[in-house]
Amino acid sequence: MQSDNVAGNDDPLVVVSGVNKWYGEHHVLKDINTTVARGEVVVVIGPSGSGKSTLCRAINRLETVQEGEILIDGVKLPEEGADLAKLRSDVGMVFQSFNLFAHKTVLENVTLAPIKVRKMKKADAEARAMKLLQRVGVEAHAHKMPAQLSGGQQQRVAIARSLAMDPKLILLDEPTSALDPEMINEVLDVMIELAREGMTMIVVTHEMGFARKAANRVIFMAEGAIVEEAAPDEFFTNPRTERAQEFLSKILHN
Ligand SMILES: Nc1ncnc2c1ncn2[C@@H]1O[C@H](COP(=O)(O)OP(=O)(O)OP(=O)(O)O)[C@@H](O)[C@H]1O
Ligand SMILES: [Mg+2]
Repeated sequence: MQSDNVAGNDDPLVVVSGVNKWYGEHHVLKDINTTVARGEVVVVIGPSGSGKSTLCRAINRLETVQEGEILIDGVKLPEEGADLAKLRSDVGMVFQSFNLFAHKTVLENVTLAPIKVRKMKKADAEARAMKLLQRVGVEAHAHKMPAQLSGGQQQRVAIARSLAMDPKLILLDEPTSALDPEMINEVLDVMIELAREGMTMIVVTHEMGFARKAANRVIFMAEGAIVEEAAPDEFFTNPRTERAQEFLSKILHN
């Protein structure tokens, strides 16, 4: 499934231009420029501390940047207020640690935002949530509390929860890295399916199988900068920079 569902870059969904961010003296995003087309799946990889999470958080406006701009569907990220809430609901986010609401059932986790933010009727939100839970294979657990589910099941609920808001884009930041090995594939399979259905995704992951199967492009970051951008096959078999070669030899050999 390479780029057949990608519309091209003339009307990109995400445009990141000239983005720089510092934490105090520490320059954590260095002149980031990239675009993500509608339906495109981009995998971001790179060593710890290279700025992958910060970039995701900047795109979702969980973090501000001092320089540059980020457009989602042609609209510059708002600073705050109702526009920001709207933007946040356009951009789904799934984190490494399962951040479900612990004191709410699986079903309540998925219906909460549609009811509160989208003012959906409870019955409609529940019907839709059940469909989404079915899609990610956890509908049997709808009435349980998150702690009664495995990590892989919780992460699939987190994906269903972000889909419930009909996002234009989903950011997934190392969604499988806190999972036991036998649960990784069940989450990756859901992500591969989403990619096939044309969801635009930015995924921070070192799962090369996912990148090869589902990604249109790999972005390799090091020390806050984008060092390489290439198609997955090209990147994994023929990384151009020494930095990427060194990184790949490390993740391939452990
Ligand atoms: N809130 C913060 N305050 C200060 N420095 C921060 C903060 N968050 C991140 N950093 C620093 O910014 C840099 C980039 O961090 P980031 O979390 O984006 O890296 P990463 O590529 O996601 O790493 P990892 O693979 O470990 O998740 C790191 O040097 C980190 O220490
Ligand atoms: Mg990170």
